Amino acid sequence: MSIDSRMESHLQSQRQRHLDELLGLLRIPSISALSIHKEDVAIAAAFLAEALTAAGMENVKVFPTEGHPVVYGDYLHAPGKPTVLVYGHYDVQPVDPLNLWDNGPFEPSIVNNKIFARGASDDKGPTYLHIKALETILQTNGSLPVNVKFCIEGEEEIGSPHLEPFIDTHRDLLKADVLLISDTTIIGPNQPAICYGLRGLCSLEVHVQAAKSDLHSGLFGGAVPNALHAMTELLASLHDHEGKVLVEGFYEDVAPLTPEEREELAKLPQDDQAYMQSLGLNELVGEPGFTTIERTTARPTLELNGVYGGFQGEGSKTVIPAEAHAKITCRLVNNQDPQKILDQIETHLKSHEPKGVTVTITRHDHAKPFIADYHQPAIQTAVDAYQFAYDVEPHFMRMGGSIPIVEAFDRLLNLPVVLMGFSLPDENFHAPNEHFALDNFDKGLRALVYYYTHLERV
Ligand code: BES
Ligand code: MN
Ligand code: MN
Repeated sequence: MSIDSRMESHLQSQRQRHLDELLGLLRIPSISALSIHKEDVAIAAAFLAEALTAAGMENVKVFPTEGHPVVYGDYLHAPGKPTVLVYGHYDVQPVDPLNLWDNGPFEPSIVNNKIFARGASDDKGPTYLHIKALETILQTNGSLPVNVKFCIEGEEEIGSPHLEPFIDTHRDLLKADVLLISDTTIIGPNQPAICYGLRGLCSLEVHVQAAKSDLHSGLFGGAVPNALHAMTELLASLHDHEGKVLVEGFYEDVAPLTPEEREELAKLPQDDQAYMQSLGLNELVGEPGFTTIERTTARPTLELNGVYGGFQGEGSKTVIPAEAHAKITCRLVNNQDPQKILDQIETHLKSHEPKGVTVTITRHDHAKPFIADYHQPAIQTAVDAYQFAYDVEPHFMRMGGSIPIVEAFDRLLNLPVVLMGFSLPDENFHAPNEHFALDNFDKGLRALVYYYTHLERV
């Protein structure tokens, strides 16, 4: 089990060029959430379209959407061979707090064998590996042993609002035998993992309104409702003291972990003591009866992400706040439905509305959870590819993050999904000093060259 030696030497001789090109992509501040970067997102799309063309892809096209564009390109000269659809995202998260970055987020630098930049690990680096792996095969071999289609989007970090309609109207264009994605993590530098489940997401804001304006606490205190008191009472009703969610029906559609799956999950390396230490914690909290891995990958959560209201300035102020707000997101697992969960939360909040205030809710994005059977031939090739590049068998695991469009790909195109990542869990996704290990840049390229040259059955 290996790859063509000419491809090995090509990867070595072209390594510096491959890296330089990736740094070029990392210099583009393609932050999808911020409208002032709209043009930069489009520039990143154009950069990728050029990279696809240079790699030998055809029919390369930047499809405009109502939001950010989708980049497509294909190679369809392997009749009778499987077609791989490659998905990735070229948009990135905002960079604040900027002062905590050692170097500018869009001034990529290589330090200690790591590439530092926003998007290095999530997901420009891993997506770029596919382009360079295919380019390597084409330039050494003259042709590809599989058909390939790329669908690279610029809205993953904002929930992919325009990709599902795009997939729906381009089903033929995107038709494939397997969907290959590198946008998940591996377990450690020497321990790859194949992901077979992603959590879904739903999000909402809660608004509490008391009097029509803030009131002097000396003049009115004791006789009127306080929006912050009401909000904290309301929010406290959402969990019990151990962390279980108290929203009625919240867990009713959760597919229970099978004994087999729990046994598999228990084999994953997890040291709670080291985990706590790395996070600066002296205790872990969560749903009783579940391990840390189960809690973070296979169980749903309801988290407060922001709570605000009342006086935030220097010193103290004797005021009774008229309003308060909270931002909440839930991570969902199969078979929870985001809309149904939002309904249940809304019902809970309404029925717990504290005396004297009005509670209103604004709903935001949602994504369905994804789960797949990992006993599939297309996944076996990924096992072999990791084994080849890392010299060790990958583990199978679900992951707690969300890639909102994966469930839609699965539902609309009905094809096996292979989630084969090369990023490490401690590479500061979404945080300052995001980085991507060069070791996984090299291993990732070798694993993908292996994958594309050994995919016989899907
Ligand atoms: N690549 C991540 C998701 C991920 C991370 C999956 C680690 C598995 C392991 C993705 O870019 C991401 O950050 N998704 C967001 C989605 C949200 C912004 C709609 C998430 O999970 O918060
Ligand atoms: Mn990502
Ligand atoms: Mn992300």
